[in-house]
Amino acid sequence: MILFRLLIVIFLISLSGEIVWAAKPGILLAAFGTSVKEAYKAYDKIEAAYANKFPDSPVMLVFTSQKIRKKLAREGRDAPSIAEALQDMADKGCQTIYIQSLHVMAGEEYGELERAVLLDMAKHPGRFKAVYLGRPLLESLEDAQKAGDAILSALNPGRAPDEAVILMGHGHGHGRADLVLEGAAAILKRRDPLVFIASVEGSRNLEDIIKELQSSNVKKVWLMPLMVVAGDHARNDLLGDEPASWANRLRTAGYEVEGKLMGLGEIEGIREIFLEHTNTLDDLTREPVKP
Ligand code: CO
Repeated sequence: MILFRLLIVIFLISLSGEIVWAAKPGILLAAFGTSVKEAYKAYDKIEAAYANKFPDSPVMLVFTSQKIRKKLAREGRDAPSIAEALQDMADKGCQTIYIQSLHVMAGEEYGELERAVLLDMAKHPGRFKAVYLGRPLLESLEDAQKAGDAILSALNPGRAPDEAVILMGHGHGHGRADLVLEGAAAILKRRDPLVFIASVEGSRNLEDIIKELQSSNVKKVWLMPLMVVAGDHARNDLLGDEPASWANRLRTAGYEVEGKLMGLGEIEGIREIFLEHTNTLDDLTREPVKP
């Protein structure tokens, strides 16, 4: 609400032509990253949505994964870090920065992004008037409901009501990832009892889901990544040709399998959630208000 009022004030000031910069924040889209070229289309669509919403702002995509950035650099591909991108925005004359996390949840990568930004701000005090950070995709009950709707509609037409869906989350051995995925899975299950979430590194794995499927009449399973891009995990661990891929393990267990090689960022309803989060940013330049 405060931000909204602030934006109105900034808008009015900019109309009078005095502080035009304030209405044109530099926008950094901070994603985990991928080295799979075909997967970039999800990022391209998100970038296009931001360019459309903020036509006068520079919009820049950065990858938070150092491993991915190093790999891209070895291949001679452009891969700025968050610090380099902030410098670039300063060089462009931006005084307000909106950083929007393109992570699925506020897990390890999101925490590292926040720390990297705060550290960079401490190194360059006063470089920007304000730096805002937008929360990742699954942040509230409402987010998970909207994301669930968007994902299920992306599987239609195609999926029949008696066909199951297994979404591959990334997950993590520790931290809150399991908790967020379990919450999202419960919300999806309420909407559609044949939708499941398992993860690559988290505690609920494919075998748990296969056990659940065996007590149902399901014959066909749809597989889709619960990740912003359909990168390496989607192409190999989920739908790859190796016997250990989820697709092949499900086939071995007797199911017909259909893969949906689509990153969440390719779905309009998902992009809308990110854009909404860019409307309710956390101000990193201000001390938290004590109750
Ligand atoms: Co991984």
